[in-house]
Amino acid sequence: MEDLKSLIDKEKLPRHIAIIMDGNGRWAKLRGKPRVFGHRNGVQAVREATEAAAEIGVEYVTLYAFSTENWGRPKAEVNALMTLLVGTLRKEVKTLNKNNIRLKAIGDLKQLPEKSYQSLMEGIEETKNNTRMTLVLALNYSAKWEIMRAVRQLAQEAKDGNINPTDISEKHFDDALSTKGIPHPELMIRTSGEKRISNFLLWQIAYAELCFLPIFWPEFRKEHLYQAILDFQNRERRFGKTGDQIAREGE
Ligand code: IPE
Ligand code: IPE
Ligand code: MG
Repeated sequence: MEDLKSLIDKEKLPRHIAIIMDGNGRWAKLRGKPRVFGHRNGVQAVREATEAAAEIGVEYVTLYAFSTENWGRPKAEVNALMTLLVGTLRKEVKTLNKNNIRLKAIGDLKQLPEKSYQSLMEGIEETKNNTRMTLVLALNYSAKWEIMRAVRQLAQEAKDGNINPTDISEKHFDDALSTKGIPHPELMIRTSGEKRISNFLLWQIAYAELCFLPIFWPEFRKEHLYQAILDFQNRERRFGKTGDQIAREGE
């Protein structure tokens, strides 16, 4: 494990890693347990991912914890997820402070159950001065929701005469998203073997490298993060140019 970590080039780290934590239900089912058992066992994986990223010097980690579409799951599962969120946040704030990690959240947070919303706000408030890394939880998040909201906001600003429609830039759009001020993720990881984005950060991952891991989220450990970063560092990010051009730029 330490070996993998030592292979990572600290000069070429992704500043922001986004993770789609998937496969809790299937992991539990394989063990003959209810889906909620999988969610509970996913908490350790969250700790491992967060700690590994902070230790190595990543600045931002965004975790997809609950999508707007997830409200469509059985009520008991939704309730269990919300309760788990409250309990985990309350317990983990101390650790976040000890590790100097700041908590943030993106998504339609006001629609969360009152208790979940409150513990989230408390966690954000109590960790707001931490500087080592920012942990962003995507909760009741949907990229299409976020994009629609930005479009409406910019349309309103144009209507009010505060901005000329032809002057609307990528920067204006970025600033109208809930990820305002956060660099776009360079690396996106999804566990469970599923190869899709499921309405996560559509605008922000325009040029992210995608890494699909064939493990379920409760199995995720620090070494998986190291592996994903190494994989990222071995890829050539071309941004539309040719491989030769990129090689020359690196000289
Ligand atoms: C991810 O695991 C956690 C959430 C979406 C909250 P799943 O619950 O989606 O597990 P699978 O994909 O059904 O196995
Ligand atoms: C995506 O996982 C959402 C989260 C990880 C919170 P899902 O399990 O909900 O995605 P689909 O339904 O397989 O696309
Ligand atoms: Mg899933």
